[in-house]
Amino acid sequence: MNMANESMNLIALRARYEAFKARGLRLDMSRGKPEAAQLDLSEPMMAPLGDYISEDGQDTRNYGDPTGIPEAKRLFGALLGVPAAQVIVGGNSSINLIHDALSRAVIHGPLEGDAPWGKLNGAKILCPVPGYDWHFNMCRTLGLETVSIPTGETGPDMDVIESLARDPSVKGMICVPMYGNPSGVTYSDETVDRLAAMQTAAPDFRIFWDNAYCVHHLYPDEARRDHLKNLYEACAAAGHENRVLMVTSTSKITFAGGGVSAMAASPKNIARQAALMTYQLVCYDKVNQLRHARFLPDLAAVEAHMAKHAAIIRPKFEYVLGVMDRELSDIASWSRPRGGYFICFRAPRGCAKRVVQLCAEAGVTLTPAGSPFPDAYDPADSVIRIAPTYPPMDELRQVMELFPLAVKIAALERG
Ligand SMILES: Cc1ncc(COP(=O)(O)O)c(C=O)c1O
Repeated sequence: MNMANESMNLIALRARYEAFKARGLRLDMSRGKPEAAQLDLSEPMMAPLGDYISEDGQDTRNYGDPTGIPEAKRLFGALLGVPAAQVIVGGNSSINLIHDALSRAVIHGPLEGDAPWGKLNGAKILCPVPGYDWHFNMCRTLGLETVSIPTGETGPDMDVIESLARDPSVKGMICVPMYGNPSGVTYSDETVDRLAAMQTAAPDFRIFWDNAYCVHHLYPDEARRDHLKNLYEACAAAGHENRVLMVTSTSKITFAGGGVSAMAASPKNIARQAALMTYQLVCYDKVNQLRHARFLPDLAAVEAHMAKHAAIIRPKFEYVLGVMDRELSDIASWSRPRGGYFICFRAPRGCAKRVVQLCAEAGVTLTPAGSPFPDAYDPADSVIRIAPTYPPMDELRQVMELFPLAVKIAALERG
């Protein structure tokens, strides 16, 4: 396109942009939240329980079972692929479980006899990017340095990880291995095997495996799903059984603000976490655990329930991807996730902040540019996390009228 055509084009795009802005909309696409219709799917869970007695005969309304009731441990054991005895069932937030486990490593060391990470000068955690801002900020809050690791189609760059793991100050890694937030990537079997088998200079190296989207397939049929190899089993086979702490939750299965979370790990890790929990709380909310375990008694029930979620959100993903395909394929690229909650959009270099700003000024809040990177610094200023689940379809259509305009304007302004 020559310069005259370019500026004509920009004038036309700006006119359309101003017309959109004049509608005075206020739409929020900033966080990966379920929409109300998804939350409604779990309403039957709130029917009276009849009785409050867990399988081990405990009255869940009372104190007891600090690591969780047996039926909830079994459910999460099935989700994470670990025996129920190696599960701690928590409160409503898996982020809280990771934060607690990281804090314990900082204050006490991961296992008895390990030096507290907080006593070392500059303990480092590897963070595949683009990744989840909560992970990076949590590490920083706890005084841990974050090291960005680029992510490709099969997961984080394993050559870089294996080489950095030779440094004893590198104490671990925190990641979303399936339908990544926001990369959409699921780690390949080879990536899982290399993470399990690699030599680490730190004997207390830990992988915080945030499997938040382990059953969140957009396409319920087997052939169109991603599959994630079991890292705990791979670690055990490689003689590194204590290397991984896995977490997940029902936040995007039942209620984002009222679900249940769990951690699974080796018997030694679980015993250590349970021991350090002793004076933190007497027990988590076991009535909610019971409600969940009865509503979702096994993996088959979870899968049937997740297919209903997929039926609600899949059209939204397909709609957003369709608009991007039509409008933006000559200037940008994006992920085509088969599950999870995000599309990872890559604007032309140097344009992401401007796109987000243009959208905000026209009434659409996106996740801040840069947030999928530690320090909110995206060196290419390119990645924008698109979260299509929360707005109802009619709002999403309006957002997707604006978004391509904003990308094209930002790209032309940049020249
Ligand atoms: C990767 C990841 N982990 C954890 C969470 C939050 O989970 P929870 O509600 O269990 O703390 C989210 C929510 O967006 C997420 O994307």
